[in-house]
Amino acid sequence: MIPKDLPKAELHCHLEGTIPPSLARKIAKRNNIKLNSDLFENEDTYAWDDFASFLEAYDAASLCLRNSTDYRDITYDYLAKCAAEGAIYIEVFTSPDHAAECGISYNEHVRGVAQAFDNAERDYGIIGRAIVTCVRHLGPERALSVADSFLENPHPYFVGFGMGGDEGHMTFEDFKPAFDKVAKAGYPCTTHAGEHFGPETILDAIEKLPVSRIGHGVRISEDENAVKEIIKKGIVLEICPGSNVSLGVYKKYSEHPFPYLRNCGCKVTLNSDDPPFFHTNIGKEYEDAHTNFGLTIDNLLDITRTAINAAFIKDYEKKRLQAKVDSWKKSG
Ligand code: ADE
Ligand code: ZN
Repeated sequence: MIPKDLPKAELHCHLEGTIPPSLARKIAKRNNIKLNSDLFENEDTYAWDDFASFLEAYDAASLCLRNSTDYRDITYDYLAKCAAEGAIYIEVFTSPDHAAECGISYNEHVRGVAQAFDNAERDYGIIGRAIVTCVRHLGPERALSVADSFLENPHPYFVGFGMGGDEGHMTFEDFKPAFDKVAKAGYPCTTHAGEHFGPETILDAIEKLPVSRIGHGVRISEDENAVKEIIKKGIVLEICPGSNVSLGVYKKYSEHPFPYLRNCGCKVTLNSDDPPFFHTNIGKEYEDAHTNFGLTIDNLLDITRTAINAAFIKDYEKKRLQAKVDSWKKSG
């Protein structure tokens, strides 16, 4: 077992995918919303059996949300749990398209999330920041509109831009206008790539889009030259082993390329993606990396340092967080 308070940082989790079934039911009840009865397999488990049905369940769970207080509550709930797992920094993807589907405006969703970040920092010392995310399978026009909302309503806690959703839809080139607009305004970007598709799609992503990080990116491991290319470019991989095993990208941990990529010299981080859907959390990801990939305490601290270094925050904020990691090492 690793010490629970080993400082951890997470760069890749979807806020709408952090809602545990009990909280989804509680929020739905107070909003007089009836969630789809086949959304749950049992009390604590969402029902899904492949990537498509996972995305459907994820969309359906988010329909419990109706106002900025709901956004505050799910964000606070998540950060409180992460703090209990020893996390000191969390970046969450928020999806204005999901908010809009629930009748919640861009600014209402920002208000709720930002309030939770303040409350969680006050109560637990954990720092939360948000990455505004478009949904690939909703297409490039919606992506551009999400980018416009982001740029027209700047907020200091909303620090970057990203894209999730079904990798099988459209090409990276199609989303270039949205990403370029955001990058031109000075914001850092990330995109999901190489989760369900091969290394060529990751190379395409880093060629077409102004990204410093790739969500998942694990399938880069299938091409040695592609691995060299992302190392050369300093691309950071937001790796989510528990999600990958749950979704069947790899059958078991022993097949996961995390150790290979790390040994090659890739910048790797550990993340939970959509914790209640995959029965994981950031603490479990670190623990599993220790058990299954043989990472030592020092290796795990380096993973935290890599994540902080790649975070979409200012240098002085990174320095403060790195100092926390260093002081834990000294006292630990
Ligand atoms: N949205 C939420 N989880 C996702 C995942 N694992 N891949 C792509 N889009 C997502
Ligand atoms: Zn993801």
